[in-house]
Amino acid sequence: MTEAQPRELMRLVFGGMAAQVIGTLTRLEIADAIGDGGATSAELGAAHDIPAQQMHRLLRAAAGLGLLAEHEGGRFDLTPQGALLRKDAPVSLHAFARMFTDPIMLGAWPRLEQSLRTGKTSFEDVYGASFFDHLAKVPEMSALFNASMSQATSGVAATLPAAYDFGKFTTLADIGGGDGTLLSAVLKANPDLRGLLFDSEAGAAQAPETLGELTRRCEIRTGDFFESVPAGADAYLLKSILHDWSDEQCAVILGHCRKVLPENGRVLIVEPVLPELVPADGPGGVYLSDLNMLVNVGGRERTRTDFENLCESAGLRVTDVIRLPPQTGFSVIEAVTPADRA
Ligand SMILES: C[S@@+](CC[C@H](N)C(=O)[O-])C[C@H]1O[C@@H](n2cnc3c(N)ncnc32)[C@H](O)[C@@H]1O
Repeated sequence: MTEAQPRELMRLVFGGMAAQVIGTLTRLEIADAIGDGGATSAELGAAHDIPAQQMHRLLRAAAGLGLLAEHEGGRFDLTPQGALLRKDAPVSLHAFARMFTDPIMLGAWPRLEQSLRTGKTSFEDVYGASFFDHLAKVPEMSALFNASMSQATSGVAATLPAAYDFGKFTTLADIGGGDGTLLSAVLKANPDLRGLLFDSEAGAAQAPETLGELTRRCEIRTGDFFESVPAGADAYLLKSILHDWSDEQCAVILGHCRKVLPENGRVLIVEPVLPELVPADGPGGVYLSDLNMLVNVGGRERTRTDFENLCESAGLRVTDVIRLPPQTGFSVIEAVTPADRA
């Protein structure tokens, strides 16, 4: 057993405050204002009507978190980590940082204990509607959520096309495909493949812009995957969908996919696959995501056995689990109808 490190535990306890610093930096777009040339507390304060002294305190806190570097005269530069908060960074986490530090994401977290006791989301108790229904009522937050998902998906989008042979399919449907970031990447890598993006109206609102000229070979359809999913594809991709829902709800979504799956068709679930035991040295974020799913949407992260059971409950069989590069934290779980497997 390693030695106890009180300061490390204190750093974790301060995590909620760190999140507020990051949230404030991104809302004020401080990283963009600092840019390549750096900026002073006085300049940044003046731009936001915040006294320089107070702005200085925010910037020092960000420097303490490793996001900024402080120089003489109250001047600050971005560190590589802080540069990820720029909107125009090649790999930006601006929208992700804003969304996941917003009260919409954090407002139900003080009720974690309640959710642990009931096994149910607490979001509705705080906001009076389910997470996705609430988002749909606030278009700017919905757009921010979609952008945050796009940013969170970029690692998978960069690696999935090389990790799985999509060339064997005619049409790939991305169910709950959001703004189309992932489908765009797969379509770009497979010029003969057609796409079908399916999401709610709010979820797909930014898809035409992201897909751009790919809309020539990608249809966008809106609807509710608890009612049905569109037929016509030979592969059905579900990335970060099942973790939003309970086992019973997942069985409904997967059941709709199975209903429209042609012979030799595939369901491709792209999610983290939890190891049976928490690794001593692995990244722990996925377990926080698991609790986030519980508190906000009533879903969960799952092990391979969980996915096998889910698929079985919908009349599907898992045929393969392909790990994407470890930095993504994601795997592809391939499933077929049992007849195809024999
Ligand atoms: C966690 S996001 C994942 C988005 C995308 N697949 C990704 O990984 O970046 C979940 C998606 O499911 C969509 N969604 C939620 N409820 C839905 C429903 N009932 N019918 C269709 N789509 C839904 C949301 O709009 C959102 O785009």
